Amino acid sequence: MPRSAPASPDPTYLLGSSDAERRRLLAQCGLLRDAARQLLDRLPLAEPARAIDVGCGPLGVLDLLSDKVGRSGTVVGLDNDERMIDWAAKSIAELGLANVTTTLGTLPCDDELPFDLTHCRLLLINSASPEALVASMAAATRTGGWIAMQEFDWAAWHCEPPHPAWDELKSLLVSVFGGDVHIGARLPTLLREAGCQDVQVAAHAFYWQPGDLYQTLLLYFADLFEERIRACGIDPRTLTGMTHELGRHLARPTTIVRESLLVQAWGRKA
Ligand SMILES: C[S@@+](CC[C@H](N)C(=O)[O-])C[C@H]1O[C@@H](n2cnc3c(N)ncnc32)[C@H](O)[C@@H]1O
Repeated sequence: MPRSAPASPDPTYLLGSSDAERRRLLAQCGLLRDAARQLLDRLPLAEPARAIDVGCGPLGVLDLLSDKVGRSGTVVGLDNDERMIDWAAKSIAELGLANVTTTLGTLPCDDELPFDLTHCRLLLINSASPEALVASMAAATRTGGWIAMQEFDWAAWHCEPPHPAWDELKSLLVSVFGGDVHIGARLPTLLREAGCQDVQVAAHAFYWQPGDLYQTLLLYFADLFEERIRACGIDPRTLTGMTHELGRHLARPTTIVRESLLVQAWGRKA
């Protein structure tokens, strides 16, 4: 596994690299798989192509890119977290993706040739410097090549019927999350500012019900960020009361969760 210089502006992934986070990310790959395939289907790549998935996590879209670049094409999975990159290598071996390799580090990576397609999903939302990351993605892409990004916009994230504990926990999470939870809305602007042309955008909405993994994602995040939420001065018993109450509300057969909007934007490097 090649290792590039660990020149990351975001050395710590906000959600950590626990086994639970690995399981969540792999399950999420399944939930977002059709949307990812639709995005890649829209990008006309001549085979064989070279593609990179920046911040690939334990799989990202490496399996879909493996198909997309053609049998003689190549794919790099890049991540600056050692556990993530080890998990990505495991996924690649399990799926038998012969044209995919992994690199530990961040952009710029060691590859000498620029890529035909540079992709990221749910990378910018966790970043303190999304503009710098998009600029480095553009720099890694050949002129005329594609840059494609998929990020959430939490504005749409809602439970129906509404519940005060949802609203309060969500606004606490927005304030402690650390990244721009509305970054999805900014993707076309970020691409243009990085020098892309023919910028296009699409979005996917998801609805969950009790029993679906992401029905309770807000509670998973509340647990993950408990320390930061408490640091806002909220009384621990109030927080526990809120999460229990929301847990009961989300478990009711009539409660639906509308997921954050998954925004996809893509453009050509000018
Ligand atoms: C939310 S996960 C998304 C993983 C994957 N893209 C997916 O959609 O399943 C974000 C990943 O980006 C990685 N990451 C964060 N900042 C990075 C950077 N500057 N360079 C490379 N990887 C980064 C993290 O380690 C983490 O694995």
